[in-house]
Amino acid sequence: MLSDRARALTGSQTSGMRNRARKLRAEGVHVINFAAGELDQDTSDSIKGAARQAIDARRNQYTDTLGIRELRERLAARVTHKTGATYAAEEVGFTAGAKQALFNAVFVSFQGNDEVIIPAPYWVTFPEQVRLAGATPVFLPTAHNDFRIDTDELARAITPRTRGIILNTPHNPTGAVCSAAVLEGLARLALQHDLTVVFDECYDELVYEPAVHHNIVKLVPQMKARTILIGSFSKTYCMAGWRAGYIAGPQATVKAVANLQSHTASNACNIVQYATLAALEPGNDKFVAGIRAQLREQRSVAQACLAAIPELSCVAPEGAFYVFPDVSRLLTMSFRGQRPENVDTLAEMLLEHAHIAVVPGSAFGSDRHVRISYAIPADEIKTGFARLAGFVKSLV
Ligand SMILES: Cc1ncc(COP(=O)(O)O)c(C=O)c1O
Repeated sequence: MLSDRARALTGSQTSGMRNRARKLRAEGVHVINFAAGELDQDTSDSIKGAARQAIDARRNQYTDTLGIRELRERLAARVTHKTGATYAAEEVGFTAGAKQALFNAVFVSFQGNDEVIIPAPYWVTFPEQVRLAGATPVFLPTAHNDFRIDTDELARAITPRTRGIILNTPHNPTGAVCSAAVLEGLARLALQHDLTVVFDECYDELVYEPAVHHNIVKLVPQMKARTILIGSFSKTYCMAGWRAGYIAGPQATVKAVANLQSHTASNACNIVQYATLAALEPGNDKFVAGIRAQLREQRSVAQACLAAIPELSCVAPEGAFYVFPDVSRLLTMSFRGQRPENVDTLAEMLLEHAHIAVVPGSAFGSDRHVRISYAIPADEIKTGFARLAGFVKSLV
């Protein structure tokens, strides 16, 4: 017997597509995996070395729930540097990935009868976490505005029940980066209406000039008291499977998160905590700059390939590693007599007939787009888009 809560829950669709692509590959089919939410390359030598050393040093014990003191202090220094506001070790915590930090943040901040505004399209997990907390996600459409939040529309979406906003910049799946003006407008509304802002900046280092990432606390220092910052080592440091993320926020929130996590997962992996300490060493800045430069190149390749398919239109992404083209024209055409009708069927047809795995926009609250990750080698990007172009050509 399952609880109502469990019955209402669906598995992450992004993982679903990845698993299906993996299965086809295991059957010997050469699938281009445009569905990945991570880089397909190795993490840095110093991070790997620190993990080996931690194993040899028998870091087998539990640690404090939100991490060893040294790591919390280093994370606090990092967040202090990013925000220009002083964060103490008690105001930050290490978690098993940003996903755990987000779940904990949402769970301790929102409850039944609360509304939480989420700009749409949204990262697949945000609304599910809000629902798990018993609160109601309220979506703020942005597609009509090239995925930019309109603060007048945001103001109109606020009701007496609104308790928070979940923001993600740079954005998964659209690649949009919030401007300073939007964040300042949003902060004004949060201050005026006493709202908590969950600020997910997992892709903060993956922004491509001339775009610039802005941290909301840095822009508006009064926001420190009502902002929960979320960060991740998954993308920038190629550590997705290591599960390394963090939370920074008001001390009472971080304490509540520690209490919650002490009854669920306890601490994130002890060994990974030492590896993350190494990731935070300045020597790794070069590693991150290399990842950014490489993704910038891959983004150019993906954009050039996309531009050659006139049936698709796409807002230029400024950050993260996704393009999110509008595929609605394809939904009105047929492939060998079959019409895709919706983005889910289209994604299935692309996997079956073109051997490319994309994530349908429905996972992100859009029935007109698909997400294509360009965090794969340039030759695979080209092959994947050539297959996509061939598929589109064959539509009538
Ligand atoms: C916007 C966003 N937030 C959070 C996460 C979770 O990251 P982590 O691997 O650190 O749990 C992801 C991962 O895809 C993401 O895209």
